[in-house]
Amino acid sequence: MDVISVIRTKRDRGELTGEQIDWVIDAYTRGEVAHEQMSSLAMAIFLNGMNRTEIARWTAAMIASGERMDFSALTRPTTDKHSTGGVGDKITLPLAPLVAACGAAVPQLSGRGLGHTGGTLDKLESLPGWRAHLSNTEMLDVLRSAGAVICAAGDGLAPADKKLYALRDVTGTVESIPLIASSIMSKKIAEGTGSLVLDVKVGSGAFMKNLDDARELAATMVELGTDHGVRTTALLTDMATPLGRTVGNALEVRESVEVLAGGGPADVVELTLALAREMLDAAGLKDTDPAKALADGTAMDHWRRMITAQGGDPDAPLPVARGQHVITAPSSGVLTTLDAYAIGLAAWRLGAGRARKEDPVQAGAGVELHAKPGDAVVAGQPLLTLHTDTPEKIPYAVEALEGGVVVGAAGAGFAASPVVLERIG
Ligand code: URA
Repeated sequence: MDVISVIRTKRDRGELTGEQIDWVIDAYTRGEVAHEQMSSLAMAIFLNGMNRTEIARWTAAMIASGERMDFSALTRPTTDKHSTGGVGDKITLPLAPLVAACGAAVPQLSGRGLGHTGGTLDKLESLPGWRAHLSNTEMLDVLRSAGAVICAAGDGLAPADKKLYALRDVTGTVESIPLIASSIMSKKIAEGTGSLVLDVKVGSGAFMKNLDDARELAATMVELGTDHGVRTTALLTDMATPLGRTVGNALEVRESVEVLAGGGPADVVELTLALAREMLDAAGLKDTDPAKALADGTAMDHWRRMITAQGGDPDAPLPVARGQHVITAPSSGVLTTLDAYAIGLAAWRLGAGRARKEDPVQAGAGVELHAKPGDAVVAGQPLLTLHTDTPEKIPYAVEALEGGVVVGAAGAGFAASPVVLERIG
């Protein structure tokens, strides 16, 4: 087998054989195929796609590149959720302890933010002492004691994807349905969850900008999960505007705790409950009511246990950025646009996100949203507060917002979008 013939097959729009796929994934993981060769193959796949047979084999080869976790020692059914990434998407934080409070075990392997989308691990690291890196034994211990664990995937899980994702990130090959589907599902299947709910984001702040692409991504992932014995469903959810009223690490932890305390923004509560119901249904626990566990404090109890078990202090004050800058409404009327990509980019420029994997993030940086699309606003009222430890970045953040925050005349047309757009599976 030689890598050049594999690259040529895909470059010329051919179908890769199972043997070619197994070999190239294994050889790349071992370092026999060079980064520049894999980069060329990734671009050929990006441009020419893969069919479902190729995607299934590619995913299986990435799973086989590392270990598979095993939660069969747990007495509770395991269920997990994966979001394709968005702006203000803090849902994992209230969702994992909530579903645990309803009787499931939630092994949630999460990632860090890159570009304009945030990462769950970065958010939780704003809690003093909280540890993202756990051994497999520690992960099981937290699952047993708190019912939910949110942590980084160990190096042994789908190492082929780790290497390939880092390469795609710097070669313009991230936004490819076959590559995204196989990347996400190889990790989730190797993780060993019994069931999985996918939150596939659609809109300016998401990888998938339109419903057709999101449907195809969701259907591909549902089929991959189902074929590997993982009960998998997907919700397509709106990411044209940020979720909730905060974007940024500590700001989003604060809002998540509000949800766990029975309050919080309506869209965050709605999506948390919709995903919780899907997860509980998939885990065979559909008779439990997650709204009750939010209202009676049991979800909050599980959050506190989970954070404490991972070294964090749930009562410690959250970091606050050194500088703030308020943006006000230029006129009276209705907020018609609050663009997720523009807000995510502004938060990133303020220091909430990173440009390279090794960059640090500012815990307190981000954007607070004082109005949401459809709200009536009065000239001069605060629309956004920008938070940062590096105030010299504020002009760049303001530049990112240009055209992304629009106030129309009173009565101006405004297309409200539901939070959950469709269900697949
Ligand atoms: N998240 C992943 O894990 N992989 C991708 O390719 C995109 C988002």
